[in-house]
Amino acid sequence: MVIRTIRENIHLLGAVDWDRRLFDSLIPLPDGTSYNAYLITGKEKNALLDCVDPSMTDTLMEQLADVKKLDFIISHHTEQDHSGAIPVVLEKYPTAKVVATPKGVAMLIDHLGISPDRCIAVEDNQEIALGGQTLRFVHTPWVHWPETMCTYVPESKILFSCDFFGSHIASTDMFVTDKPRVYEAAKRYFAEIMMPFRTIIAKNIAKIEALDIEIIAPSHGCLYDEPEFIIDAYKDWISSEPKNLVVIPYISMHGSTRKMVGHLVGALAARNVTAQQFELSGTDIGKLAISLVDAATIVIGTPTVHIGPHPAIFYASFLANALRPKLRFASVIGSYGWSSKAVEKITELIPNLKVELLDPVLCKGLPCSDTMERIDAMADSIAKKHRENGFKEICGIC
Ligand code: FEO
Repeated sequence: MVIRTIRENIHLLGAVDWDRRLFDSLIPLPDGTSYNAYLITGKEKNALLDCVDPSMTDTLMEQLADVKKLDFIISHHTEQDHSGAIPVVLEKYPTAKVVATPKGVAMLIDHLGISPDRCIAVEDNQEIALGGQTLRFVHTPWVHWPETMCTYVPESKILFSCDFFGSHIASTDMFVTDKPRVYEAAKRYFAEIMMPFRTIIAKNIAKIEALDIEIIAPSHGCLYDEPEFIIDAYKDWISSEPKNLVVIPYISMHGSTRKMVGHLVGALAARNVTAQQFELSGTDIGKLAISLVDAATIVIGTPTVHIGPHPAIFYASFLANALRPKLRFASVIGSYGWSSKAVEKITELIPNLKVELLDPVLCKGLPCSDTMERIDAMADSIAKKHRENGFKEICGIC
């Protein structure tokens, strides 16, 4: 990636990783990603804001080839996709210091082996003057690690937000141009990484909104020259009100559970409830996570393996429990051969979900007309509860 200028003396460095398809050996990256670093050259001092993933260190070092002096490396977040290249940058600039929150300094020492005498810990709202540009450090814990912070430059009205407001998207666009594409990528990113911290993110957004911001510059994906686009989206995603949506992760071994899921989806549609089904042997787990941002109800569809749910259901249930979405209702549908403890096992897997459990529908062998009538009754119950709670429709880019 070539160095690009955002504002006078503020430059975008870093690397676009078009080909990466998995993050943390866990998160699918259908659109690749980028690791954005930023160089601010002041009248007296220079600062590099974040680095890149270790795999892209050479790219960053080529961009720094003509930068003779670097005083500070600002480490907003210790995860290696931003901090991994710091040791190499420190080697090139032997007098440079790494600036982080107090927790960030401790984590840089633990995770990267950086010497404590190369680190400076900064408090919330502390500033460093570069000469004509000021770095104001805004602590924003738990987006998504405990040590995270942002940097605000008041002279340029830019907020450097690292993971906060980021999106895993490889693009030649410096600023957002394709809003629907970026919206989905940012929502996927929020769902997979930020959603468990909704409450503290609300407090961090309130801090951010007190600043006069013209540009948000995250460390993944495009920059926002309309900050309200992503701030408003985050406000919608962190709100405690779910939407009129039922998410149905399921798997089927011999077709019975699939038939039941198909019937439930049709019954919900007939009652003006939006439903999204995800067949777990092939689904993009990120798409499932996106749906969980909005869903009011989850209905898990499973056949029975021995007496418990299918192993794929353990994974999906663990994921839903870990992401702590704002679900209000949950239930189970599925089939079994001779006996089943699927409902009990699934219930044990989702203690973080503060949901009302609706009557499950399990059938022995093939679903029959009685099974489908019970699924219709479940759809009636869900539609009534969504209506009574006034859940609104999903709005996409609101
Ligand atoms: Fe982009 Fe949490 O690292």
